[in-house]
Amino acid sequence: MICLGLESSCDETAAALVADGRLLGEKLASQEDLHALFGGVVPELASREHLRRGAVLIKSLMRESGLDMGRIDAVAVARGPGLLGSLLVGLNLAKGLALALGARLVGVNHLHAHLMAPGLNREMPFPCLGLLISGGHTQLYLVRSPFDFELLGRTLDDAAGEALDKAAKLANLPYPGGRHIDELAQAHEPDHSLFPRPYTANDNLDFSFSGLKTALARYVAGKAGLRLPVLPEGRVAPNPELGLYCASVNWAVADTLRIKTERALSAHPRVRALIVAGGVAANTMVRRAMAELAQKAGVELIIPEPGFCTDNAAMIANLGSVLAWEGFSHGLDLAAVPRGCPVPFDYLRDEGLAPRRSFAVDTKLGSQ
Ligand code: KG4
Ligand code: ZN
Repeated sequence: MICLGLESSCDETAAALVADGRLLGEKLASQEDLHALFGGVVPELASREHLRRGAVLIKSLMRESGLDMGRIDAVAVARGPGLLGSLLVGLNLAKGLALALGARLVGVNHLHAHLMAPGLNREMPFPCLGLLISGGHTQLYLVRSPFDFELLGRTLDDAAGEALDKAAKLANLPYPGGRHIDELAQAHEPDHSLFPRPYTANDNLDFSFSGLKTALARYVAGKAGLRLPVLPEGRVAPNPELGLYCASVNWAVADTLRIKTERALSAHPRVRALIVAGGVAANTMVRRAMAELAQKAGVELIIPEPGFCTDNAAMIANLGSVLAWEGFSHGLDLAAVPRGCPVPFDYLRDEGLAPRRSFAVDTKLGSQ
């Protein structure tokens, strides 16, 4: 069974082919350099870039794979949450292909796809706990199967990646700055008293990073030497003051994530694994904290390889093909779901393309 996956929910345009659960090939066009000029993603420019590049990527993916388009059984597409204009471009492309090829259309929850990405290379152990940490989302899920996600906690305002990007912007580091904060933090010990671990003095599993952003702004305002002129090619000249700042921000974010994840693991002692996905899963301190946590709880830690942590189409094709196997699809009236809105579990269901195994499915579930 061959599934073409399309991703266009934010600023990466991507296409991938999965055949019988195996990745055949993938293409990705990043818009990072374009948006870096504006210090953040400009939604209208993102939509235009998806429109310009989407079909071209698919054409070159098909050419390189040597596959005839007529062999595609399912077209999977990220249907949300994401930037609405960007999603509309990807959805329309997917619908056109499904219509022309007579393939089934499968709308995929972008967040669930992130967490299931490791399934391309291995069998996933269920139930598991999923921590999704990106520039737009910070969420904790109890995952019982690829179709059964229970949202346990989410950010009430900003995402973990957003806080790191803001920390970088305040210090004049290039966008998106999480990676630079992480790099500059390497050679320094964090000061644990410098920044708060926000919204941890409670007993719930939600997050809130807006307070940390305020604390960062206040700190930087009093430290003229910390804001660096950006050197050519986005390089920065590190100094000890900046190193301490980066290490301390990194720690505040990583330890906040650790506290909530540890709480979730205690509340769900029967989980077999901890999955950590999204761009911030590439962060050194986060990885270390999660490894310690998983070992302490006696569960397996699963983190996708770096290229599958950030947005990509392989994860969409992967979850899309699992859904298609099981008989889940959408009609051509499939709607996009913007950021902040729950993604409904609104699949049509038939006997599937080739169901190999069955999962218990709670079709009442709608989740973010
Ligand atoms: O999942 P992603 O590629 O895009 C979405 O937001 O959906 O995540 C991007 C986020 C950005 O905030 C970026 O700064 C952050 O992931 N990021 C990192 C690292 N690499 C990427 N944050 C901390 N440490 C890193 N090494
Ligand atoms: Zn994402």
